[in-house]
Amino acid sequence: MPKVSLHNHLIGAVSAQTVLDLARKHDVVLDGGHDAESLYDHGSYEDLNEFLRVLDVAGSVMRDADDFRRVAFETLTDGGAALGVVHREIFLSPPGHPGVPYRTIIDGVLAGMREAEAETGITSRMVIGLNRNDSASAAVELVEQVIEHRIDEVVGIGLDYSELIGPPARFVDAFRLAGRSGLHRTAHSESGPPANIEVILDELGGERIDHGYHVVDDARITARCVEEGITFTCTPVSSDIGRYSGSGDGSHRRIAQMVDAGLRITIDSDDPPMFGTDAVNDFRALARALGYGLTEFAGFTRNAVTAAWLDDSDRATLN
Ligand code: ADE
Ligand code: ZN
Repeated sequence: MPKVSLHNHLIGAVSAQTVLDLARKHDVVLDGGHDAESLYDHGSYEDLNEFLRVLDVAGSVMRDADDFRRVAFETLTDGGAALGVVHREIFLSPPGHPGVPYRTIIDGVLAGMREAEAETGITSRMVIGLNRNDSASAAVELVEQVIEHRIDEVVGIGLDYSELIGPPARFVDAFRLAGRSGLHRTAHSESGPPANIEVILDELGGERIDHGYHVVDDARITARCVEEGITFTCTPVSSDIGRYSGSGDGSHRRIAQMVDAGLRITIDSDDPPMFGTDAVNDFRALARALGYGLTEFAGFTRNAVTAAWLDDSDRATLN
């Protein structure tokens, strides 16, 4: 089935082998004498913070434009087109690569996107993720860089890392600045209360919600999101394994509640190698857990086509 992918992090898409290759290239000594098999012990993240420390390792070995080109190419080809993905928005996390200039990151990723499209036909865009562990002013500075180095392929901003540390309201200024310059906006709300979803919609100008499983805890906000056609980018495997969705018996039950409530959802794989998943496997997990099949999956994919940040002619190509 052709797929449109709206929720994948570049920093979370680096294969273990690539992390080891880049560490060798830059003479980085990784803690713990890891090999490719042991680097991502994807069964055992105790909480989001433990997982975020793994992201830091991957982020720390990506240093020059060619590293970003390589990882973007790999996630769009082996991790994308080879699994039926025809279009992908890639979240980038500049704060996850300390000391690397913003321009180096987007130039490298752009080169990987162009190479992947030439080889496989997959199209892609970039979304810049603000780190909610950062201060409000650091987030504003990052948006200023996005604006200063504006290119058509960077279509919007997101907000990720720990929702417990960085409530959405802290980032109002950064999001308003992005909105004023015509950037699209989304934000993660994975473990937080439904009230966070309303802050994202009303104060940050969010057009989509990443994860958003707790929306179903509030009937009014659920009804509002149905009415406004808000799209939730769900990632069943990472949210289930991470256990930080706070959903008790996993994210699957909440995804079923969201679908039953009439919310628009899409399915994605978040940080595939780190959670032992891929663009196909997250659909398979839902088929197993909820009995969903092609009818539901085609609906989720149509939601992704509608919610993708593309102009009308590019969207028509996907349709
Ligand atoms: N960064 C990458 N994946 C993430 C996730 N699932 N939650 C928060 N931040 C992330
Ligand atoms: Zn995510």
